[in-house]
Amino acid sequence: MIKISNVRKLFNEIIVLDDVSFSVEKSNIVGLAGPSGGGKSTLMRCIQKLDKPNSGTIKCDGRVCFMFQDFQLFPHMTVLENLTYAPTLKNKKSNHVKLALEMLENLGIGSKADAYPKQLSGGQKQRVALARSLMIKPDILLCDEPTSGLDVATTMDVVTLLESVRDMGVTMVIASHDLDFLIKISDRILLLKEGRIAVDIVPKEIDNPLEYLKKYY
Ligand SMILES: Nc1ncnc2c1ncn2[C@@H]1O[C@H](COP(=O)(O)OP(=O)(O)O)[C@@H](O)[C@H]1O
Ligand SMILES: [Mg+2]
Repeated sequence: MIKISNVRKLFNEIIVLDDVSFSVEKSNIVGLAGPSGGGKSTLMRCIQKLDKPNSGTIKCDGRVCFMFQDFQLFPHMTVLENLTYAPTLKNKKSNHVKLALEMLENLGIGSKADAYPKQLSGGQKQRVALARSLMIKPDILLCDEPTSGLDVATTMDVVTLLESVRDMGVTMVIASHDLDFLIKISDRILLLKEGRIAVDIVPKEIDNPLEYLKKYY
């Protein structure tokens, strides 16, 4: 589904990604862990083609969608308008409103269709951002820090939500500084440190994945 081969990325001659290679199978969730500045966001941006590696290749099967760290909802648009805006630019004819309302209903925020982002809690904004990402029916969803700023209970909701997205067949790469969250959600965890994959584990196969990962920070 995703195949990353020998990716190198430099910013001002500083190596940010150094010979990174891995593959992600369909409907799998790969977590990207690692210290701040380790290269997680840069790798995600390269996968989404928002940035270009200096060398190496990235191949993705199907449509890729990026869910940003700060949600990036349009503040002057209602929840419904946030969902339908981009799909309508691409295709004026089809009925995006129906799909959007279904999507909001599925994510438990059907009643917020006419609200503005500033009227929503952090968890609700996260759901809207996720609903908006799913409007384009992605095969691959990249989530950068999806739990930042959320409390523990809401983070558990995000785990359930993302699992339901995985069950729809969506392949995911999730970057997070929150190890507990990553261990819960990921089929596999890669730890990026100084631009290299320092750890590659299947958390379910390890006794204490939290302790194991912490050693590399
Ligand atoms: N646009 C940019 N220009 C220069 N340096 C950058 C840019 N984006 C990221 N970096 C640097 O690349 C390194 C990795 O950053 P990043 O990918 O954001 O790490 P992480 O998401 O793991 O915290 C950091 O040292 C950061 O300062
Ligand atoms: Mg980051």
